[in-house]
Amino acid sequence: SLPVVIDCDPGVDDAIALLLALASPEIEVRGVTTVAGNASLADVTRNAGHVLDLGGAPAGLPLVAGLAGPIARTARIADEPIHGDGGLGGPAPAAPPRAPAAGHAVDFLAGQALAAPGEVTVVAIGPLSNVAAMLARHPQAGPALREIVVMGGAAFAQGNITPAAEYNFYADPEAARRVLESGVPVRVVGLDVTRSALFPLQAAEHLARLPGAAGAAGGLLCGFVERYRERFGVAAVPVHDALAVAGLVDPGLLDYGHGSATVECAGEVTRGALVADLRTPGRSRTAHIALTVDADRFTALLTERLARHTG
Ligand code: BDR
Ligand code: CA
Repeated sequence: SLPVVIDCDPGVDDAIALLLALASPEIEVRGVTTVAGNASLADVTRNAGHVLDLGGAPAGLPLVAGLAGPIARTARIADEPIHGDGGLGGPAPAAPPRAPAAGHAVDFLAGQALAAPGEVTVVAIGPLSNVAAMLARHPQAGPALREIVVMGGAAFAQGNITPAAEYNFYADPEAARRVLESGVPVRVVGLDVTRSALFPLQAAEHLARLPGAAGAAGGLLCGFVERYRERFGVAAVPVHDALAVAGLVDPGLLDYGHGSATVECAGEVTRGALVADLRTPGRSRTAHIALTVDADRFTALLTERLARHTG
């Protein structure tokens, strides 16, 4: 199975992505790192610990905290309550979750890459601060990665934080740019596909009736749909980060365009915009941009995998 490290900022869809990964034998989670984004670093790290407990992750699975803000800007925690207070849809769970391990996510990510050259995939589902800092601080680590899978950007679709930009790229555009221009193969799962694969309320309600962590995941998704419905009037949600993981679990789920990509950092109204060049292949073809998704297959896969969490 494919070894991965998941860099995340839970976040409801991050939580669902983690639970999907833990239930999927096709991938082997070697560690989880956290980055500020949907909530503060302290909150997302606590949330990640809680989700790993919920999903029955082995006690020894490393959870390592990373950067508390972007690499070149002032921190801006998402203030839209789409993920609820504290990032996970409401009050913090009663039981204190597992504590993060010592060390820094940036060094942990590099250590994982260098320990198994060519094998490890980083799945980055928050702002790209940790991954970009790793590439800068540990120059041998990037080339040692198999691939970076990024949830972020909107190549052809509208953004979600501004018309031009998706949240993860907007939050730390310099980091996103560094990752996309690094020469490491990057697979970008952006709003182009995540908004075409909405997870329906009915499936969330089905999960919510199941015992154990499956039921908890269903509850999180129901709350997510509710907040989304209030805002957009649609009773189905993009589970962005879970689609990025699903694309590794089921390689047939997404179709990609190949080329190069960068991110606008200086634009007055386009900060964080993903600019993908999929024209006649030029010199660089390290960016693989997801363009289409089989939505029914994603809903079926996510439902079936989350339902495995009956403990
Ligand atoms: C991305 O932003 C966050 O709110 C989600 O967790 C996801 O990673 C979607 O734009
Ligand atoms: Ca996220």
